[in-house]
Amino acid sequence: MSNATKTIAVIGTGRMGGAIGGRLASLGHTVIFGSRAPDSEETAALVQKTGGGTTASSPTDAAAAADLIVFAVPWAGAEKAASSLGAVDGKTIIDVTNALSFGSHGLMEIATDTSSGESIQKWLPGSTVIKAFNTVGFHVIANPEAAGGPVSVPIVGDDEDAKTAVAELVQSFGFESVDVGPLVHARALEMMSMIYIVPYLQGRKEDAFEFYFRRGAAPKVSAGVRAAG
Ligand SMILES: NC(=O)c1ccc[n+]([C@@H]2O[C@H](COP(=O)([O-])OP(=O)(O)OC[C@H]3O[C@@H](n4cnc5c(N)ncnc54)[C@H](OP(=O)(O)O)[C@@H]3O)[C@@H](O)[C@H]2O)c1
Repeated sequence: MSNATKTIAVIGTGRMGGAIGGRLASLGHTVIFGSRAPDSEETAALVQKTGGGTTASSPTDAAAAADLIVFAVPWAGAEKAASSLGAVDGKTIIDVTNALSFGSHGLMEIATDTSSGESIQKWLPGSTVIKAFNTVGFHVIANPEAAGGPVSVPIVGDDEDAKTAVAELVQSFGFESVDVGPLVHARALEMMSMIYIVPYLQGRKEDAFEFYFRRGAAPKVSAGVRAAG
């Protein structure tokens, strides 16, 4: 993505869509929100707040007008929202979602056998799904200083060029990007979000955290990587 500005569709006008759309617009990108209610007062207010020539339309029209799509909807509505995008062959989808549902123990649990990222790739096979931002709070995306320190954004995907482009976008937001491998590792990233949410679910906001990967921690002498046992 380098320094070039792009037209980017942001699907979902909630906390994540609003925060990411706002940052994209402030960086000079042209944002088109894809909403189930593009003409609602709420969407109009978000468009006005986002500024910078932002518009809103149906998910299909937003996706058609952009090469890059940010997918920011709840897991429960993800399959329907994915099908509402229409033809997305050849486009990159930044998946910020987490396949989570409430468990009987009052915590979150993974709501699929694979991951949201892999599911979206399966539903939209001609697209390139890159998972990013799913481990970061929306308020920190809107204002990285709210984290009180550096933030790592792990990224996974199967297309190296698309992953590099998304990494550059992540960095332009003020975060450190960390390539943690292929899309199958979306499972690991979505489990990170389970841990992230625990302090909020338990009413311990003072313990809320953001992820930061401190490098340089490997043992000085190593016999290589092997599974334990
Ligand atoms: N909140 C966070 O800090 C955070 C952080 C990391 C990842 N995430 C992940 O990001 C995704 C979005 O989270 P969010 O907090 O932005 O959610 P949210 O505030 O509830 O907003 C989700 C948006 O998705 C759209 N949508 C499409 N289909 C929907 C459906 N069936 N039901 C409800 N909304 C639907 C809606 O926009 P329209 O009405 O305009 O269509 C809605 O505003 C989730 O998968 C979440 O796990 C959230």
